[in-house]
Amino acid sequence: MPPTQTLIQAEHVSRDYRLGETVIRAVNDLSLDICSGEFLALLGSSGSGKSTLLNLMAGLDRPTSGAINVRGQNLAALDSQGLARYRRETVGMVFQSFNLLPRMTLEAAGALCRRLSVCALANGASIAPASFPAASNSAGHWLARW
Ligand SMILES: Nc1ncnc2c1ncn2[C@@H]1O[C@H](COP(=O)(O)OP(=O)(O)OP(=O)(O)O)[C@@H](O)[C@H]1O
Ligand SMILES: [Mg+2]
Repeated sequence: MPPTQTLIQAEHVSRDYRLGETVIRAVNDLSLDICSGEFLALLGSSGSGKSTLLNLMAGLDRPTSGAINVRGQNLAALDSQGLARYRRETVGMVFQSFNLLPRMTLEAAGALCRRLSVCALANGASIAPASFPAASNSAGHWLARW
C-alpha cells in the first residue's frame, strides 16, 4: 500500500459572515488534515458550517482567517484564474442544491465538464468553463451551440 500523503490541510480556519452589525462565525478555528485514500464524512446539525467548509476547500470562498493548503499549495495564494483552474482540474463538488443543468443527466453533465476542460486546455484558456460563453474561443462557441 502506498504511503499516505496529506492532500488537504486546514490550519486554524475561520469564516465569518457579516450581516450589518451581526457577525456569524460559520467555521470557528478549524484545523484538519485529509490524507490520500481517506473517505471522510462531515456530520453536524443544520447551520453548523458544513457547506461553508466545503466551499472553502473547493476554492469557492476564502477564509476570514487561517489557511487551506491543498498538496502544499495555499489556496489564498491563488488569484481568481488560479482558483478557477483548481476547481476545474483538482476538486469536484456536488452541490447541496445540485446546480445541475435541467435538461441533462448527471452523466451527461460530467461528460460536458470533461469536454470543456479538454477544449480549454487545447485553446490554452486560463478561464473557467463557466466563463466560456463570453470568450471568443472555440470552446465558447461550442458551448453557445449546445
Ligand atoms: N452567505 C451567507 N451569509 C450569511 N450567513 C450565512 C451564509 N451562508 C451561511 N450562513 C450562515 O452560516 C452558518 C453555517 O451555514 P452552512 O450553510 O455552512 O451550514 P450547514 O452545516 O451546511 O447547514 P445545512 O445542514 O442546513 O446544509 C449558518 O448560521 C448560516 O445561516
Ligand atoms: Mg449545507
